[in-house]
Amino acid sequence: MEILRSLNAMREWRTSLATEQRVGFAPTMGNLHAGHIELINVVKQQSDVVVASIFVNPMQFGGNEDLDAYPRTLAADLAKLEAAGTAAAFTPTTTDIYPDGVSQHTAVDVPKLTDVLCGASRPGHFRGVTTVVSKLLGIVRPHVAAFGAKDLQQVLVIKKMVRDLSMNTEIEVVPTVRESDGLAMSSRNGYLSHDDRALAPLFSLTLEETAKRVAESGSDIETAIAESKAILTEAGFIVDYLEARRTHDLSAASSLNQETAIFGAVFLGTTRLIDNRII
Ligand code: PAJ
Repeated sequence: MEILRSLNAMREWRTSLATEQRVGFAPTMGNLHAGHIELINVVKQQSDVVVASIFVNPMQFGGNEDLDAYPRTLAADLAKLEAAGTAAAFTPTTTDIYPDGVSQHTAVDVPKLTDVLCGASRPGHFRGVTTVVSKLLGIVRPHVAAFGAKDLQQVLVIKKMVRDLSMNTEIEVVPTVRESDGLAMSSRNGYLSHDDRALAPLFSLTLEETAKRVAESGSDIETAIAESKAILTEAGFIVDYLEARRTHDLSAASSLNQETAIFGAVFLGTTRLIDNRII
């Protein structure tokens, strides 16, 4: 596996590929788990060479968020990528990506879809995501790039950006990979205390049961959500949001005439977890 530590190294490697070689791409912030590796497996089936990037993107973290604490495990990550059959790992520096600093950088903004859910709770987060992903797609020039359904709002925002900016990359959505107890795998799960880790699966389970209840009984969405919020709060979660929204445009859903998902974000201590379940 090639380890490309700079923009120039990445560009040179990309230029060295034959034009008929199909390039697959999985952007990540590292601290890789089986969810990330599943992105590699999926794009590998659709391409000749797979590139993964590892870059903890400062622009998508708020001032009071966990940028400094975010787990950085480069050696272990590279070993996992190599074992998964990745051809190249792109690990740019912050100066490579933001030569004049984050605040002086040109930004990409997707309207509307970013006003709700995580966009409302984390102002500026998606602006950071779309800016870095547009840069990564421009540098790597992949035919296909994979994103995880765990971050369903992120997927919708990126799909819209790619369409609006006429980018020449297919976006592949990979189903959420979960621990055996149902908890969605996440680099942030490692922050959880022993007791909070034991409690965490109740979040995923509650989303699943809410989705099932609404689907099976046609139960009123508002009531089902209010009851689920109460269950989570009672158990010790701080609910950031729990909402039913249409999966195509994230508009609020009060009936099931279009594909709808329950989206949730909760805090356990200072750790923020997100998940979603399609109804
Ligand atoms: P990160 O949180 O490292 O996730 C990288 C990719 O892995 C994202 O597409 C995410 O949705 C996917 N992923 C994470 N956990 C998953 C799981 N349990 N199952 C399936 N896929 C999972 O998301 C980001 O980084 C950043 O915002 C990024 C897109 C790299 C831009 O900086």
